[in-house]
Amino acid sequence: MDVGVETVETVVEVEDLHHSYGHEPAGRVLHGLSLTVRRGELVAVTGRPGSGRTTLLALVGGLDTPAAGRITVDGIRLDELGEQERLRLRRDRIGTVFPSSGLLPVLTAAENVGVPLRLCNVPPDERDARVARLLSDVGLAEHAGRRPAELSGEQRQRVAIARALANRPVLLVADEPTAQLDAASGTALLELLHALVRDRGVTTVVATRDDWLLSRADRVLELRDGRLPETGPESRPALPTPP
Ligand SMILES: Nc1ncnc2c1ncn2[C@@H]1O[C@H](COP(=O)(O)OP(=O)(O)OP(=O)(O)O)[C@@H](O)[C@H]1O
Ligand SMILES: [Mg+2]
Repeated sequence: MDVGVETVETVVEVEDLHHSYGHEPAGRVLHGLSLTVRRGELVAVTGRPGSGRTTLLALVGGLDTPAAGRITVDGIRLDELGEQERLRLRRDRIGTVFPSSGLLPVLTAAENVGVPLRLCNVPPDERDARVARLLSDVGLAEHAGRRPAELSGEQRQRVAIARALANRPVLLVADEPTAQLDAASGTALLELLHALVRDRGVTTVVATRDDWLLSRADRVLELRDGRLPETGPESRPALPTPP
Protein backbone atom coordinates (compact mmCIF):
# COMPACT_ATOMS: atom_id res chain seq x y z
CA MET A 1 0.00 0.00 0.00
CA ASP A 2 1.23 3.45 -0.86
CA VAL A 3 1.08 5.28 2.43
CA GLY A 4 2.39 8.42 0.75
CA VAL A 5 -0.93 9.09 -1.00
CA GLU A 6 -3.23 11.41 0.93
CA THR A 7 -6.77 10.12 1.08
CA VAL A 8 -8.17 13.42 2.33
CA GLU A 9 -7.34 16.40 0.19
CA THR A 10 -7.50 19.96 1.32
CA VAL A 11 -8.85 22.48 -1.17
CA VAL A 12 -8.86 25.57 1.06
CA GLU A 13 -6.42 26.29 3.84
CA VAL A 14 -6.69 29.60 5.66
CA GLU A 15 -4.13 30.36 8.32
CA ASP A 16 -4.11 33.28 10.72
CA LEU A 17 -6.03 35.52 8.36
CA HIS A 18 -6.34 39.20 9.18
CA HIS A 19 -8.06 41.89 7.20
CA SER A 20 -8.90 45.51 7.68
CA TYR A 21 -10.55 48.35 5.81
CA GLY A 22 -8.77 51.61 6.44
CA HIS A 23 -6.82 52.39 9.55
CA GLU A 24 -5.86 49.91 12.25
CA PRO A 25 -7.07 48.94 14.74
CA ALA A 26 -10.59 50.38 14.21
CA GLY A 27 -10.83 49.14 10.62
CA ARG A 28 -9.84 45.59 11.40
CA VAL A 29 -12.63 43.14 10.53
CA LEU A 30 -10.96 39.71 10.52
CA HIS A 31 -8.86 38.74 13.51
CA GLY A 32 -6.67 35.73 12.83
CA LEU A 33 -9.01 33.20 11.24
CA SER A 34 -7.91 29.69 10.42
CA LEU A 35 -9.95 27.07 8.64
CA THR A 36 -9.63 24.13 6.31
CA VAL A 37 -12.05 22.90 3.67
CA ARG A 38 -11.63 19.41 2.28
CA ARG A 39 -12.32 18.35 -1.29
CA GLY A 40 -16.04 17.91 -1.90
CA GLU A 41 -17.04 19.54 1.37
CA LEU A 42 -19.92 21.99 1.66
CA VAL A 43 -19.10 24.52 4.35
CA ALA A 44 -21.62 27.13 5.41
CA VAL A 45 -20.44 30.40 6.92
CA THR A 46 -23.00 32.08 9.10
CA GLY A 47 -22.99 34.97 11.53
CA ARG A 48 -24.63 38.28 12.28
CA PRO A 49 -24.60 41.17 9.81
CA GLY A 50 -21.18 42.76 9.75
CA SER A 51 -19.46 39.72 11.24
CA GLY A 52 -17.10 39.53 8.27
CA ARG A 53 -18.59 36.82 6.07
CA THR A 54 -18.37 38.75 2.81
CA THR A 55 -14.82 39.80 3.64
CA LEU A 56 -13.78 36.20 4.33
CA LEU A 57 -15.42 34.88 1.16
CA ALA A 58 -13.92 37.65 -0.98
CA LEU A 59 -10.46 36.70 0.28
CA VAL A 60 -10.98 32.95 -0.17
CA GLY A 61 -12.45 33.58 -3.62
CA GLY A 62 -9.42 35.62 -4.67
CA LEU A 63 -11.33 38.88 -5.09
CA ASP A 64 -9.18 40.69 -2.57
CA THR A 65 -5.83 40.17 -0.88
CA PRO A 66 -5.52 39.85 2.89
CA ALA A 67 -3.76 42.30 5.17
CA ALA A 68 -1.96 39.31 6.72
CA GLY A 69 -2.14 35.54 6.81
CA ARG A 70 -2.02 32.69 4.34
CA ILE A 71 -4.73 31.45 1.94
CA THR A 72 -4.07 28.32 -0.08
CA VAL A 73 -6.56 27.21 -2.74
CA ASP A 74 -5.95 23.93 -4.54
CA GLY A 75 -2.31 24.00 -3.45
CA ILE A 76 -1.66 27.57 -4.60
CA ARG A 77 -0.80 30.39 -2.19
CA LEU A 78 -3.40 32.97 -3.16
CA ASP A 79 -1.97 35.66 -0.89
CA GLU A 80 1.35 35.53 -2.73
CA LEU A 81 -0.06 36.00 -6.22
CA GLY A 82 0.07 39.21 -8.20
CA GLU A 83 -3.12 40.70 -9.62
CA GLN A 84 -2.88 38.95 -13.00
CA GLU A 85 -2.05 35.56 -11.52
CA ARG A 86 -4.90 35.90 -9.07
CA LEU A 87 -7.29 36.73 -11.91
CA ARG A 88 -6.07 33.68 -13.80
CA LEU A 89 -6.54 31.42 -10.80
CA ARG A 90 -10.07 32.73 -10.32
CA ARG A 91 -10.88 32.28 -13.98
CA ASP A 92 -9.55 28.72 -14.08
CA ARG A 93 -10.45 27.26 -10.70
CA ILE A 94 -12.87 29.35 -8.66
CA GLY A 95 -16.55 30.02 -9.30
CA THR A 96 -18.28 32.87 -7.48
CA VAL A 97 -21.90 33.77 -6.82
CA PHE A 98 -23.04 36.98 -5.12
CA PRO A 99 -26.32 38.35 -3.74
CA SER A 100 -26.85 40.09 -7.06
CA SER A 101 -26.39 38.05 -10.23
CA GLY A 102 -23.99 40.43 -11.94
CA LEU A 103 -25.13 39.17 -15.34
CA LEU A 104 -24.29 41.32 -18.33
CA PRO A 105 -27.62 42.91 -19.31
CA VAL A 106 -27.02 42.95 -23.06
CA LEU A 107 -26.21 39.24 -23.22
CA THR A 108 -28.70 36.37 -23.21
CA ALA A 109 -28.67 33.78 -20.44
CA ALA A 110 -26.72 31.41 -22.70
CA GLU A 111 -24.20 34.09 -23.62
CA ASN A 112 -23.71 35.00 -19.96
CA VAL A 113 -23.01 31.38 -19.03
CA GLY A 114 -20.61 31.18 -21.96
CA VAL A 115 -18.50 34.16 -20.84
CA PRO A 116 -16.08 32.18 -18.63
CA LEU A 117 -15.72 29.56 -21.37
CA ARG A 118 -14.80 32.23 -23.89
CA LEU A 119 -12.23 33.62 -21.48
CA CYS A 120 -10.69 30.15 -21.31
CA ASN A 121 -10.78 29.72 -25.10
CA VAL A 122 -13.07 26.71 -25.02
CA PRO A 123 -13.85 25.91 -28.70
CA PRO A 124 -17.31 27.14 -29.84
CA ASP A 125 -18.87 23.69 -30.33
CA GLU A 126 -17.84 22.50 -26.92
CA ARG A 127 -18.83 25.83 -25.43
CA ASP A 128 -22.33 25.63 -26.87
CA ALA A 129 -22.75 22.07 -25.66
CA ARG A 130 -21.59 22.93 -22.15
CA VAL A 131 -23.78 26.02 -21.96
CA ALA A 132 -26.85 24.05 -23.09
CA ARG A 133 -26.14 21.36 -20.52
CA LEU A 134 -25.64 23.90 -17.73
CA LEU A 135 -28.82 25.79 -18.55
CA SER A 136 -30.70 22.50 -18.60
CA ASP A 137 -29.15 21.55 -15.24
CA VAL A 138 -30.44 24.77 -13.69
CA GLY A 139 -33.86 24.29 -15.30
CA LEU A 140 -33.59 27.15 -17.78
CA ALA A 141 -33.16 25.37 -21.10
CA GLU A 142 -36.29 27.11 -22.39
CA HIS A 143 -34.97 30.52 -21.38
CA ALA A 144 -31.54 30.36 -23.01
CA GLY A 145 -32.30 33.29 -25.32
CA ARG A 146 -33.68 35.61 -22.67
CA ARG A 147 -31.81 38.60 -21.35
CA PRO A 148 -31.52 39.19 -17.59
CA ALA A 149 -34.33 41.78 -17.61
CA GLU A 150 -36.65 39.10 -18.99
CA LEU A 151 -35.92 36.71 -16.11
CA SER A 152 -37.05 36.68 -12.48
CA GLY A 153 -34.54 37.37 -9.71
CA GLU A 154 -34.36 33.71 -8.88
CA GLN A 155 -33.85 32.76 -12.53
CA ARG A 156 -31.05 35.30 -12.79
CA GLN A 157 -29.37 33.70 -9.78
CA ARG A 158 -29.73 30.31 -11.44
CA VAL A 159 -27.95 31.68 -14.50
CA ALA A 160 -25.26 33.08 -12.19
CA ILE A 161 -24.81 29.63 -10.65
CA ALA A 162 -24.56 28.04 -14.09
CA ARG A 163 -21.95 30.64 -15.05
CA ALA A 164 -20.01 30.01 -11.85
CA LEU A 165 -19.93 26.27 -12.58
CA ALA A 166 -19.13 26.63 -16.29
CA ASN A 167 -15.40 26.14 -15.95
CA ARG A 168 -15.84 23.19 -13.60
CA PRO A 169 -14.26 25.04 -10.71
CA VAL A 170 -12.34 23.35 -7.95
CA LEU A 171 -14.00 25.74 -5.52
CA LEU A 172 -17.36 27.49 -5.50
CA VAL A 173 -17.72 30.53 -3.27
CA ALA A 174 -21.28 31.79 -2.84
CA ASP A 175 -21.98 34.88 -0.75
CA GLU A 176 -25.62 35.05 0.38
CA PRO A 177 -26.99 33.96 -3.00
CA THR A 178 -30.57 34.36 -1.77
CA ALA A 179 -30.21 37.74 -0.03
CA GLN A 180 -32.34 39.51 -2.64
CA LEU A 181 -34.97 36.78 -3.04
CA ASP A 182 -38.22 36.13 -1.22
CA ALA A 183 -38.31 33.09 1.08
CA ALA A 184 -39.88 30.65 -1.37
CA SER A 185 -37.55 31.59 -4.24
CA GLY A 186 -34.59 31.51 -1.88
CA THR A 187 -35.34 27.98 -0.74
CA ALA A 188 -35.79 26.83 -4.33
CA LEU A 189 -32.46 28.35 -5.29
CA LEU A 190 -30.62 26.78 -2.36
CA GLU A 191 -32.12 23.37 -3.11
CA LEU A 192 -30.81 23.70 -6.64
CA LEU A 193 -27.39 24.91 -5.52
CA HIS A 194 -27.14 22.09 -3.00
CA ALA A 195 -28.10 19.43 -5.58
CA LEU A 196 -25.67 20.79 -8.17
CA VAL A 197 -22.62 20.93 -5.92
CA ARG A 198 -23.38 17.56 -4.35
CA ASP A 199 -23.83 15.94 -7.77
CA ARG A 200 -20.59 17.39 -9.03
CA GLY A 201 -18.67 17.04 -5.79
CA VAL A 202 -17.71 20.72 -5.97
CA THR A 203 -16.02 22.04 -2.85
CA THR A 204 -18.27 24.87 -1.71
CA VAL A 205 -18.09 27.71 0.78
CA VAL A 206 -21.41 29.48 1.11
CA ALA A 207 -22.37 32.39 3.34
CA THR A 208 -25.96 31.90 4.40
CA ARG A 209 -28.28 32.15 7.35
CA ASP A 210 -30.80 29.82 5.77
CA ASP A 211 -31.71 26.98 8.14
CA TRP A 212 -32.46 24.57 5.32
CA LEU A 213 -28.94 24.86 3.95
CA LEU A 214 -27.27 25.10 7.36
CA SER A 215 -28.79 21.74 8.27
CA ARG A 216 -27.35 20.18 5.13
CA ALA A 217 -23.85 21.61 5.20
CA ASP A 218 -21.01 19.32 6.18
CA ARG A 219 -19.91 22.01 8.61
CA VAL A 220 -21.20 25.34 9.82
CA LEU A 221 -18.72 28.04 10.76
CA GLU A 222 -20.13 30.90 12.76
CA LEU A 223 -18.21 34.12 12.44
CA ARG A 224 -18.44 36.41 15.43
CA ASP A 225 -16.99 39.88 15.01
CA GLY A 226 -14.38 38.57 12.60
CA ARG A 227 -13.42 35.57 14.70
CA LEU A 228 -14.07 31.85 14.56
CA PRO A 229 -14.12 29.68 17.68
CA GLU A 230 -10.58 29.25 19.04
CA THR A 231 -10.57 25.50 18.72
CA GLY A 232 -11.28 25.63 14.99
CA PRO A 233 -14.08 24.63 12.68
CA GLU A 234 -14.31 21.01 13.85
CA SER A 235 -15.72 22.26 17.13
CA ARG A 236 -18.89 23.38 15.40
CA PRO A 237 -20.44 20.40 13.65
CA ALA A 238 -23.35 20.93 11.29
CA LEU A 239 -26.84 20.58 12.67
CA PRO A 240 -28.31 17.11 12.22
CA THR A 241 -30.04 16.62 8.87
CA PRO A 242 -33.80 16.55 9.34
CA PRO A 243 -35.68 13.48 8.09
N1 LIG B 1 -15.26 48.28 1.69
C1 LIG B 1 -15.37 48.45 3.01
N2 LIG B 1 -14.88 49.56 3.61
C2 LIG B 1 -14.97 49.75 4.93
N3 LIG B 1 -15.55 48.88 5.78
C3 LIG B 1 -16.06 47.76 5.26
C4 LIG B 1 -16.00 47.49 3.86
N4 LIG B 1 -16.59 46.29 3.62
C5 LIG B 1 -17.01 45.85 4.82
N5 LIG B 1 -16.68 46.72 5.80
C6 LIG B 1 -16.97 46.54 7.24
O1 LIG B 1 -16.36 45.33 7.62
C7 LIG B 1 -17.18 44.60 8.53
C8 LIG B 1 -17.47 43.22 7.97
O2 LIG B 1 -18.21 43.40 6.79
P1 LIG B 1 -18.67 42.18 5.88
O3 LIG B 1 -19.37 42.75 4.71
O4 LIG B 1 -17.50 41.30 5.62
O5 LIG B 1 -19.68 41.44 6.85
P2 LIG B 1 -20.88 40.45 6.54
O6 LIG B 1 -20.86 39.44 7.62
O7 LIG B 1 -20.80 39.97 5.14
O8 LIG B 1 -22.15 41.37 6.75
P3 LIG B 1 -23.47 41.62 5.86
O9 LIG B 1 -23.43 40.71 4.66
O10 LIG B 1 -24.59 41.30 6.76
O11 LIG B 1 -23.41 43.05 5.50
C9 LIG B 1 -18.41 45.46 8.75
O12 LIG B 1 -18.22 46.20 9.92
C10 LIG B 1 -18.44 46.37 7.54
O13 LIG B 1 -19.04 47.60 7.86
MG1 LIG C 1 -22.05 40.03 3.54
